[in-house]
This record gives sequence, structure tokens and C-alpha cells, in this order.
Amino acid sequence: MKKRVAIIGVTGSVGQEFVQSLDNHPWFEVTQIAASERSAGKMYLDAIRDASGIIAWDVGGQIPEYIKSMKVLKVDEINVQELDLIFSAVESEAARDIETKFAKDLPVISTSSAYRYEEDVPILIPGINDDQAELLEVQKKNRDWKGWVAPLPNCTTTGLVITLKPLVEKYGAKKVMMTSMQAISGGGKSGVSAMGITDNILPYIPKEEGKVRIETKKILGKLKDGKIEDADIKVSCTCTRVPVIDGHTESVFVETEKEIDPNQAKDTFNSYNKDISVTGLPSAPEKYYAFHDDPTRPQPRMEREVGDGMTTSIGRVEKEELFDNGLKYMLFSHNKKMGSAKGAVLLAEMLYKKEKI
Ligand SMILES: NC(=O)c1ccc[n+]([C@@H]2O[C@H](COP(=O)([O-])OP(=O)(O)OC[C@H]3O[C@@H](n4cnc5c(N)ncnc54)[C@H](OP(=O)(O)O)[C@@H]3O)[C@@H](O)[C@H]2O)c1
Repeated sequence: MKKRVAIIGVTGSVGQEFVQSLDNHPWFEVTQIAASERSAGKMYLDAIRDASGIIAWDVGGQIPEYIKSMKVLKVDEINVQELDLIFSAVESEAARDIETKFAKDLPVISTSSAYRYEEDVPILIPGINDDQAELLEVQKKNRDWKGWVAPLPNCTTTGLVITLKPLVEKYGAKKVMMTSMQAISGGGKSGVSAMGITDNILPYIPKEEGKVRIETKKILGKLKDGKIEDADIKVSCTCTRVPVIDGHTESVFVETEKEIDPNQAKDTFNSYNKDISVTGLPSAPEKYYAFHDDPTRPQPRMEREVGDGMTTSIGRVEKEELFDNGLKYMLFSHNKKMGSAKGAVLLAEMLYKKEKI
């Protein structure tokens, strides 16, 4: 029997990606959905229809049949007795209370930042820090919950950490400097105005840089005696918003402990591809990393469909002369696929395999 799941925040930008990522899923079945009071009580199609009658479906392709006439519930109407797992995709403020309420009874996988910075909460990226999932047991015990909250990182952290992990493991890292060029969809359905972003670059995204700094060190840290020891890496970043619909591009400089050149980096990513733990999971891409020698890659328009948005693309890899040892490179990571909804489904698959769901 499939595990019964609910999506909270089902009408939003990430919620819609959840709807699609869970369509015909072999292990999970969406049996309940919820959003704010504004949408509650309506059929899904009506809940995403705006005042002028336009259906605001932001994900490419058709709206899956299973969801069209499903009733959107209030959070309080969700029946936890008939569920095995909650996917939460609401803004952090609302998420705090919602996730606390559900975690008392059920596992909660979240795309919000509400719980990310708590000591007994791992920030999980499947394939990167699976071992930190053991902290969920500590969390359950500490809080006397039947479930737990497992948040994903901020979508800008995701691509950075995925690309740093193989380098850190093999060559060590002292300092990382990153500038992001983030997609409009990262701000949610009402986050960025068309007037503000057209023909423009916004040089500031509130709270984003602090999140990337803290999360990178935590995810690359080590789980020891029931706590995560942060990685000893200095992280500096500048986060900008650019007129791209989906997918974040990042320019990265990394100072490594050992000498490294672009060919060694290529070999490192390619061998990581072969050993990645998520291989075989239903939402895993064929290739976790795509390494490009072509200097015109990565580009959002060319990379965002690769591996259905679950592949992280790397290019422009060069030796960096600012450091004794180090590299510069550019990466592309899909903020709504690997960086949120489909990445959350992949995390659920990894935790299901570990018998935590
Ligand atoms: N967009 C991205 O690329 C991305 C990537 C990674 C993480 N995230 C995180 O994922 C979360 C969702 O982001 P988003 O971009 O999907 O936001 P969004 O488009 O603004 O959608 C928010 C969703 O939450 C619902 N909601 C709001 N307040 C609620 C409440 N009190 N109770 C129940 N539901 C409520 C909304 O319902 P109504 O439609 O009824 O208002 C809507 O379904 C955020 O925490 C965000 O930081 C986003």
C-alpha cells in the first residue's frame, strides 16, 4: 500500500510543483491537501483560479487529473490519523506553528526555514548528507514527538552545497565566495513584481545571504554525539535576483586545502556521480552532476530540463589565482525542482528507504 501524504501550501509556487512531482508516484499518494483560509473549501482548480477566471498553474505541462477536483482543506481540517507524511510548503512564519502541530504525530518534510537552524534539526540534501538523518531520532526524543521536521535548505544553498561536497571531501575547503543570480520564481507567487524585475537586476534578497552562510556550514558539518559540528569553512555570498523564470545560477570561488585543477574537479564530480546514494530512487536523475567543458554552459534555458530539474550543472571551471589552491566555477540548480518540491520528494524517498517514514 502506498504511503498517504498531505501537501500543505498546495496552491503556492512550490505546492504546485509538489502536485506534479507526486503525480503517479510509485510509493506516495496525495490524499489530503491544504492552504490558507483564502483557498480552503474550494476545489483545487477553483482555488488556483484568480478573480478574472484565469487558472494560475505555474508549472509547465498539464494539471494532473488527480488534484483537479480535490477539496482544499484548512490546516485544522487535516486528519492526521489517515496520513503517513506531511509535505509543508508555506512561508516560514505560518510554517512554524503548522509544522509543530503536525510533527507531534507525523513526519514533516518542509521547504520552509522555520526549523532549519535548531540544534536537533538536520538540513538534509539527499545524496549529500544522508548520515545526518540520524539526528531526526534525537529530535523526536528531545521533543517527545511521534514525528519530526526535516527541512530542505534554502534553494540557493542547495546548488552551492551539492557542488562543494565532492570538492570538500577530496580537497578540503577553507573559504567560499559565491554570487547568485536567482530566478523570479524563488520569491513565490507574489514575491517579485514584473515592474521591479524586467530589464533589471535586484542586488538584495532579504535574509538570503545569512541563510546560505549558516546552512552551508551545517550541511557540510559532521554529526557527532547527537549534534552537528559545523564545517570550518568561511562563506561569503552576494545574492541577487535576475529576470530568469526558473533556476538559480551561481558564480563560486573556493579556496581548497590541497592543490586542485579543473581536470581533477571533473574526475571528482564524475566519480561522485557513480557512487551517489540516491541512485535508483524514483525522483533521482540519471546524473546528479552534469560537468560542462563548453564555456557557454551552464545556462538556465539549457539546463533547467536536464534530469527533470534534478541535475546540478557545473561549468566554467578554472584554476583561481587569488588563492594558493582553488577553483572558480559556475553552477545551475533548479530552485523549484531539486531546490524545493521535487528535492523534498527525493528526500522522502531516501527517508522511506531508511525506514524513517
Ligand atoms: N519558490 C521557491 O523556489 C522556493 C524554493 C525553496 C523553498 N521555498 C520555500 O517554500 C515555502 C513556500 O514557498 P512558495 O514560493 O511556494 O510560496 P507561495 O507561492 O507564496 O505559496 C505559499 C502557500 O502557502 C499557503 N499559505 C499561506 N499562509 C498559510 C497558512 N496560514 N496556512 C496554510 N497555508 C498557508 C498559500 O495558500 P493560499 O494560496 O491559499 O494563500 C500557498 O499555498 C516558503 O517557505 C519558501 O521560502 C521556496
